[in-house]
Amino acid sequence: MRNSERTKVKHLLESGVAGTDVTAMGWVRTKRGNKSVSFIALNDGSTINNIQVVLDMNVFTEDQLKDITTGACIGVRGKLVESPGSGQRVEIQGSYIELFGAADATTYPLQKKGHSMEFLREIAHLRPRTNTFGAVLRMRHAMAFAIHKYFNERGFFYIHTPIITSSDAEGAGAMFRVTTLDVDNLPRTEEGQINWAEDFFGKEASLTVSGQLEGELAAMALSEIYTFGPTFRAENSNTPRHLAEFWMIEPEMAFYDIQDNMDLAEDFLKYLIRYALENCKDDLEFLNSMYDKELIDRLKFVVENKFERLPYTKAIEILEKVDQKWEFPVFWGADLQSEHERYLVEKHFKKPVILTDYPKDIKAFYMKQNDDGKTVRAMDVLFPKIGEIIGGSQREEIYDKLISRIHELHIPEKDVWWYLETRKFGSAPHSGFGLGFERLLLFVTGMGNIRDVIPFPRTPKNCEF
Ligand code: 4AD
Ligand code: MG
Repeated sequence: MRNSERTKVKHLLESGVAGTDVTAMGWVRTKRGNKSVSFIALNDGSTINNIQVVLDMNVFTEDQLKDITTGACIGVRGKLVESPGSGQRVEIQGSYIELFGAADATTYPLQKKGHSMEFLREIAHLRPRTNTFGAVLRMRHAMAFAIHKYFNERGFFYIHTPIITSSDAEGAGAMFRVTTLDVDNLPRTEEGQINWAEDFFGKEASLTVSGQLEGELAAMALSEIYTFGPTFRAENSNTPRHLAEFWMIEPEMAFYDIQDNMDLAEDFLKYLIRYALENCKDDLEFLNSMYDKELIDRLKFVVENKFERLPYTKAIEILEKVDQKWEFPVFWGADLQSEHERYLVEKHFKKPVILTDYPKDIKAFYMKQNDDGKTVRAMDVLFPKIGEIIGGSQREEIYDKLISRIHELHIPEKDVWWYLETRKFGSAPHSGFGLGFERLLLFVTGMGNIRDVIPFPRTPKNCEF
C-alpha cells in the first residue's frame, strides 16, 4: 500500500464521491462491533473528524483484526459509500487492511479518553494523537500561516533576526547563556574573571529575548518589516502564561507614530481571529464544546468591537477606586500585573484595552520619551482571560534623547553602538510591537495553560525531549 493511492480523511469526508474505490491511512481511534460487523474510527490528523471504516466479518477473520486496537496505525482499501448512520456523510466499506504499526492495548497510554492536561504534558511525544492537541496544532499552523499572509498582503518583509545574540534588547537580565567553554575548567583573566575572549564568539553571547533591535535596523531600509521567530527568557515565572521558549511576531514600521502602531495592532489581531473563525470551524467547535463554552462568542465579540484606548495614568485612577484586595498593590509607577489587566478588560471596560504612556522606569530604554519627562510612548494590548497579549511602542528616534536614556540606565555604549548609528544616519520616526504567538493561541483555542498550545513546552525544570 503506497501513499500515492491515499486520500486524506478530510477530503474523503468533505468531497469524496460515493461509489469510488479509496485508500485511507491513519491511526485507530476506536474499534467496536459484533460477530458480523466491525467499525473502526480512523483519524489521519487532516481534520478533527474520523472516517468510519466498516468491516464485514464474513470477509475478515477475528484473528486478522486482533491487533487493530486503539492507537494502531493502519491503511485501508475499500469503497466509499453513503453512510446509513448519523454523524457522517460517507464511510468506507473496507476490503483490505494493512497493519503498519500495532499499539499494545495493555501499555498504550492513550487507550482511554479523558486524560488530564497535566498527564498529557508528561507524554508530550504522544499527545498530538489526542483530539485536543490535533485541534491545537492545526490552529497553530493556521495562525502562523495567517500571520505571514497578513503581512505579505500589506507589503511587509519577513526578516530573519539572529537567535544567538550579544545584545539584551529588553534589559530584563534574564537570558540564557550560549557558550562552548568547558564549564568544569573555565579560562580566567589575570584578575580571576571568566575570560570570555576565549569563548566561541570571543565575547559573551546569549539566546535572544527579542528580534526587535535587529528588526529596527531592517525597517530603517525596507520601511515595513516583521520578524517571527523563537525567543527565550530565563525568568523563573511559573504561570499559565509564561514560557522560557516562546515565539514572537514583531513588526517594525518606519514613519508610524503610536496611533498608527495601535491601529495596526488592532487590525492585525482582528484579522487573525477572523481568520480562525472562518478557517478553523471544526476545531473551534470541538474546543468550544469540550473546554470553553464561550470561546466562539468571545472571538466574535473581539472582532466586532473597537478596542478601548487610554493612558496608563487613567487606568491607575480606575484601579485605585476599585474596592478589591489586590495581590500586588496599585499605585502610579507600579508595573501592572495580570490581575489588574484582567480587571480592566473583563470587569471595567468588558472589551480589549490598549494602555499607553507608561512610566518610563518600568519600560525598556528604546521607547520614545513624552514631553512630561515621566512617561514613554508605550502601548500594551490587554485581552480577556490573557492580560497582555501585545507589548510595543513608538521608538525614540532622536539621538541625544536616546543616548541620555542609555547613560541613565548604565547600558554600555559599546554594546549598542550599531543601534545608535541608525539614529545618527537617516533616522526616522518609527514604531513596532511584539505579539506573543502562544498568548494569541491561548486566546483563539480557549486553552487555559500556555504549556498546552506549544508542542514541546520549555518551563523551569522542564526540558524533556
Ligand atoms: O512585552 P515584551 O517583552 O516586548 C518585547 O519583547 C518587545 N521587544 C516587542 C516589540 O516592541 N517589538 O513581549 C512581547 C509579547 C508580550 O506581550 C507577550 O505576549 C509575549 O511577548 N511574551 C511572552 N509569552 C510567553 N512567555 C513569556 N515568558 C513571554 N514574555 C513575553
Ligand atoms: Mg511587555
